[in-house]
This record gives sequence, C-alpha cells and structure tokens, in this order.
Amino acid sequence: MSRRIAILAGLGGLLFGYDTGVIGGAQLFIKKDFHLSNFSDEVLVSCVLVGAIIGAAAAGAILSRFGRRRAITIAGLLFVVGSVAAAAAPGADLLDAARIIVGVAIGLVSVAAPLYVAETAPAARRGAMVALYQLAITIGIFSAYLVDEALSTDDAWRAMFAIGIVPAVLLILGMRTLPESPRWLVEQDRDEEARSSLSALAEGEVDAKPVEEQLAAIQAARQADGAATWRSAFTASVRPALIVAVALALIQQLTGINTVIYYAPTIFRSAGINSNSAAIWASVTVSIVNVTSTFIAIRFVDRVGRKPLLAIGLTGMTFALGALALVFAIGGDGHGFGIRAIVTIAALWVYVACFAFSLGPIVWIVISEIFPSSARGPGNSVATMVGWSGNLLVSITFLSLIDVLGDSGTFALYGAIALASIVFIRLRVPETRGRTLEEIEGELIPARVTPTR
Ligand code: BGC
Repeated sequence: MSRRIAILAGLGGLLFGYDTGVIGGAQLFIKKDFHLSNFSDEVLVSCVLVGAIIGAAAAGAILSRFGRRRAITIAGLLFVVGSVAAAAAPGADLLDAARIIVGVAIGLVSVAAPLYVAETAPAARRGAMVALYQLAITIGIFSAYLVDEALSTDDAWRAMFAIGIVPAVLLILGMRTLPESPRWLVEQDRDEEARSSLSALAEGEVDAKPVEEQLAAIQAARQADGAATWRSAFTASVRPALIVAVALALIQQLTGINTVIYYAPTIFRSAGINSNSAAIWASVTVSIVNVTSTFIAIRFVDRVGRKPLLAIGLTGMTFALGALALVFAIGGDGHGFGIRAIVTIAALWVYVACFAFSLGPIVWIVISEIFPSSARGPGNSVATMVGWSGNLLVSITFLSLIDVLGDSGTFALYGAIALASIVFIRLRVPETRGRTLEEIEGELIPARVTPTR
C-alpha cells in the first residue's frame, strides 16, 4: 500500500515539477502574443512562486481541518481550475491570476504530499517513499522541457498549460482510493477509523508492526501533544524542530538550485556555448542528471541515513560551485566548446547530481518527520512557505546578482552558503533513519511523549 500511496502522491510532485518548469518555454510565445514588457514577463514567471507561498502558508490550516487526503484532493482541483484558466486566458491579467491559482495548488501539494507519504509509510522505508515524490518533481521538470521543445510553435503555449490537467485529474481520482492518515484520524479522535486505516496500510507490508501497537503509540503522542493549531508550530518545545525545518528549506533554495533549473541555457551561453540549440541540449542533460541521481537517494536514504547523504551532497555541491566560480573568474576562451564550457557542463552535472541525492529529497523527508504530531501540518507549512519565499528571492535576484557580483561572485556566494550549511547540518539536524514518527518525537521532545514500549 505504501508504494501505491507514494506513486499517487507522486502525481502531486509531477505537477509541481511540470508547472514550475513549463513557463520557461511558454514564456517566449506568451510574451509575443500578449506584447509583454520585460517587467510583465517577470511578473508572469513569478506568479507561480507567489501562489506557492500562499498555498504553503494556507496548507497548515487546510491539513488540520480537512485531513491529508482531502488537502491533496483540493490541490488537485486547484491544479485543474488553474490549468484550464491558464490555457484559456484571453489576456495577461487573467493569465497571471490563473498561474497564481496553479501556484497555490503547488504550494499546498508541496506540504501535503510529502507529509501524507511520511505519515503512512513504514518507518524502515519512509525515506525512500518520500524520495519518490522528489523523483516525480524531477520527472515533471524534465517533461516540461520536452513538452516545451515539442510544442515550440507560436500559439502552442496554451496546450503546454492544458497538458497539466491530465495528471491533476488522475491525482483527484487516485486519492479517492487511498486510506486517510491514521495520525490525522487520531488527532480528530476518530480512533476506530485510524485502526482500519492502519490495517489497510499494513496490507502487503511484511515488516509492519502490529496495528494495536502502532495505534497505541500514536494515541500516546496525541495525548502528550494536544490539538493541532497554527500556534502549535511556535511553542517553545517545538522551536528546535521549527528552526531545523526552516533552515533546511532555506538551504535547499539559497544554494542556488533553481538558477540552474530555470536558467541553465543562460549559464551555458555565458560559458561560451554560443548556439542556442547546443545550450538547450546541454540543459536537457542537466535535467536527465537530476532525474537519474535521485535514484541514489531512493536506494540509500534508509540505509546510510539522512545526514551522511546531506553531508556528501553538500560537499560535492560546494566543490562544484567553487569550480564554477573559478572557471568564470579566470575567463578564457569565449567561443564554442572551449575548456570553460566543458568545465561548466561537468560542474553543473556534479552540482545537480549532488543536489538530487541530498538536499532535493532529504529536505522534504526531514521536514515531514521532525515535528510532533500536533505541529506536523502547521510546522511543515511554515517551513515550506519560507522555502518558497527563498525560491522567489533567488529566482528574481539571480540576473541582478550576476550584474553586481559577476557570474563568478554569484556562484561563490551560493558555494559559501553550501559550505556553511554543512556545519549547520552536522550540529543541528537529527538523524531520523529507521525510527517511527512517534520515536522521533519522543527523542526530540522527550518531555511530551510517554514511551509506549
Ligand atoms: C526543490 C525545487 C527544485 C527541484 C529540482 C525540489 O526539491 O524544492 O525548488 O526546482 O527540487 O529538482
């Protein structure tokens, strides 16, 4: 069952990746169709991120009130409405509004999907199951590239948005077939339903603990915790978890991943690859590296743990960013595939590969794991909202940063943040591998949970 949940929740990740990526190709045609100024063009591109900040902020309340399954279904409906409206938009203002709705859906699903997967997966495979969601994000980004390439004729931008309707409908239909999170049901004092949900979740799982034992542990945590409200994320005992979650969400963004995801062709052109199609093909290889390297996390995150992967990944990212800073500082041959172009491609591969098996999936995993049950929805919502704000900040400042600091200075800045993050993770992030959510809660906030074993 947990695999089925991970795959269906993965449709949320697919939409997240597709709808953040698709604007890259669509934008050129929309700009021409609607005669957009550079500023209106930037507004259009940012709309989805603004929406995602709103969606992530609202997610805490939606999750607590409607539950995990219905929250994902609501996100699915918003994806459909937003995609239909974007595809049909008669002018720029309505298109902006439609893209904000899609953004709200992305923000909501980015909190709800990993949390739902984490709450329903067996402890021993929880990391891999949430990593499947990140895999879906990367596949979504890659599909957006392919669709943008395949449909690059004048008015096909409407079709680019419309394609997102298909996975959204599948997501809505699929969610109807899955059990609600037993943790949320206990939260709502619906213990009988929680018991049936735990039995449904145990189907086909060889290593599942007995249902009664799981239920007792969840109930004990619930009693120690009290009810989930927005304020639960800000109490003194939850603060250490909140700091770690917010910091991780920021680290995921401020180390610059989306400059590569959104602007790879621009980076390749500054590295001397002058032909547009070569720059685009080089970017496609980056996207393929992003997808394939995520499998490393799926395989190892529950075996070696979250922290070692984060440490290795961030070290690789720091070196790759250092190499980029160096190669742009030295300058050199400006045309064709010179040394600069080759080092840039290699460094971006290393950088993206290292992100894909570390910060990419593990941030979603850890922020879904470290909050006590009463603060899980609200805490995750706050951290993810901050993460989306970091994404917006990096995306809108990247080109200006290059003007001010140069390519080299900009990559050095992201590298310095990556380096500092290694220290933070070593000191502050707990290792959560293999433990149940209640055991993690008991260790992080010992006073709140009476051990049940
Ligand atoms: C991040 C996105 C990023 C993607 C790249 C996700 O985990 O949240 O901002 O675009 O990974 O694969």
